[in-house]
Amino acid sequence: MKKLLSKIVSVGLIFCMTGAMAGCSKSEETTKATTAADTTAADTTAGDSSAADTTAAAEKFTVQEGKLIMATNAFFQPYEYYQGDKIVGIDAEIAEALAKKLGLELQIMDVEFDSIIAGVQNNKYDFGMAGMTVTDTRKKAVNFTTTYATGIQAIIVKEGSEIVDIDTLLGGNYKVGVQQGTTGDIYMSAEPDDGGVGESRIVRYSKGPDAVLALSTGKVDAVVIDNEPAKSFVAANEGLKILETPFTVEDYAMCVNKDNTVLLDKLNAALKELTDDGTIASIIEKYIPSNG
Ligand code: ARG
Repeated sequence: MKKLLSKIVSVGLIFCMTGAMAGCSKSEETTKATTAADTTAADTTAGDSSAADTTAAAEKFTVQEGKLIMATNAFFQPYEYYQGDKIVGIDAEIAEALAKKLGLELQIMDVEFDSIIAGVQNNKYDFGMAGMTVTDTRKKAVNFTTTYATGIQAIIVKEGSEIVDIDTLLGGNYKVGVQQGTTGDIYMSAEPDDGGVGESRIVRYSKGPDAVLALSTGKVDAVVIDNEPAKSFVAANEGLKILETPFTVEDYAMCVNKDNTVLLDKLNAALKELTDDGTIASIIEKYIPSNG
């Protein structure tokens, strides 16, 4: 388990072409405001205007032309966090590299984690990238790109806590802090028969650091959150430690509106190039040194 945890991020990528064909037809459906006056003369200009349409359709794959708007929740070091007023981290850097490949200007929006998927569905953002785990439920709402990293859920407790493993956590009457809407929330709020502690023992916070503060101040007995952010919270707060949990390894991916398979395909293609040339691995290595 220890080994697994220290190897939390791997870059084994499996490329799939999900929805590639469906995407082509969608992009073609540009609405053209044809003027009535042109209707009879349409034949002579048909070639030009359809060429123009194709270009317009090809360009219109982001919410705002020329921009790539990413939604994240920037309290999740080393994936996204503030350095001064700039959002940096693995996700921020990968997104920057992707935007560059696509010739777009990246704009990062820091929002509540549990509003990211709805915002992507409503075309408020082009994509969500937030150390976001691919789950079957989420897959019903959005499309996910190829996985670019993996994570594991960890339990943070106070040093000297009587909680020593997942069984003591589940078995006792302990309160568990989670970030609202995360997989930690989903796993832990499941009823005891389904492997969680149940609703009555869950306390939800809008940001990971708020859950950790609640642990430090004794409002909850444990926090369940992704392992790499857990490490950074423990490093930044005295008197906390991480227990390893037997939870499954999770895949992180970007989420995209289900109708926007053009963007999905472009992100996947760019991600593949950045993986093949070693960019993704070096960004991850920069934030999570493999010998560190
Ligand atoms: N991996 C977890 C999930 O997808 C937590 C992600 C939280 N991300 C964040 N940027 N706060 O549910």
